[in-house]
Amino acid sequence: MTTLTTSPAADVLERLFADAVRTGEAFRARMARTPAEGRDARGSVDSRAFYAAAKDTHLAVSRDTARLLYVLARSRGARRVVEFGTSFGVSTLCLAAALRDNGGGTLVGSEYEPTKAEAARRNLADAGLADLVEVREGDALESLAHDLPGPVDLVLLDGAKDVYLDVLRLLEPRLAPGALVVADNADRSPEFLAHVRGDARYVSSAVGDDVEVAVYTVG
Ligand SMILES: C[S@@+](CC[C@H](N)C(=O)[O-])C[C@H]1O[C@@H](n2cnc3c(N)ncnc32)[C@H](O)[C@@H]1O
Repeated sequence: MTTLTTSPAADVLERLFADAVRTGEAFRARMARTPAEGRDARGSVDSRAFYAAAKDTHLAVSRDTARLLYVLARSRGARRVVEFGTSFGVSTLCLAAALRDNGGGTLVGSEYEPTKAEAARRNLADAGLADLVEVREGDALESLAHDLPGPVDLVLLDGAKDVYLDVLRLLEPRLAPGALVVADNADRSPEFLAHVRGDARYVSSAVGDDVEVAVYTVG
């Protein structure tokens, strides 16, 4: 029996995945109608504007990635986790469930949108995991720049793709030897991929559903 697969966390996770499907469909239909003048040269909406428009939408990790996060955090025996991009808390719940089953710990999450951060706190409380999680509001480049729990065992990158490398560089001095860095939609952050695949301190591999998992070998 695990925290992830039993009530209340398993029930909350099912509810969140159902919400993610419902809100995702509505969001995609709305984005398809966004006029060309709201987009940059590559046809994308600027990332701050994009996430503001997505304030009611999960953009959650997939079910496979959610389980992968639990597996990685359990196998690493993680006690300290930092998350870039919490949204409504799907990935957060899976990582916090792993912390619980590892014997406790701390997860520091980060979220631009105050309403999402508040909802994530409620969801984690419903899942019985609130005592393990602090969700910090505001830009993660500021909120994760101070007062982090010491050596970090696992980092999840799932916020704005254009700052994955900046967030990782911010956290690098705090990584534990053998820490895992997991990035969702990593193909959309070529600078991050070049860093973890080209820097001798990391061994990195693409996994499953556009996820990159790197181990920080220093220490
Ligand atoms: C892909 S969603 C995260 C999904 C979440 N990990 C899950 O599994 O449910 C990305 C979230 O990161 C937030 N975000 C993006 N850039 C951010 C930044 N610089 N600082 C804080 N939050 C950010 C967005 O508002 C959005 O809610």
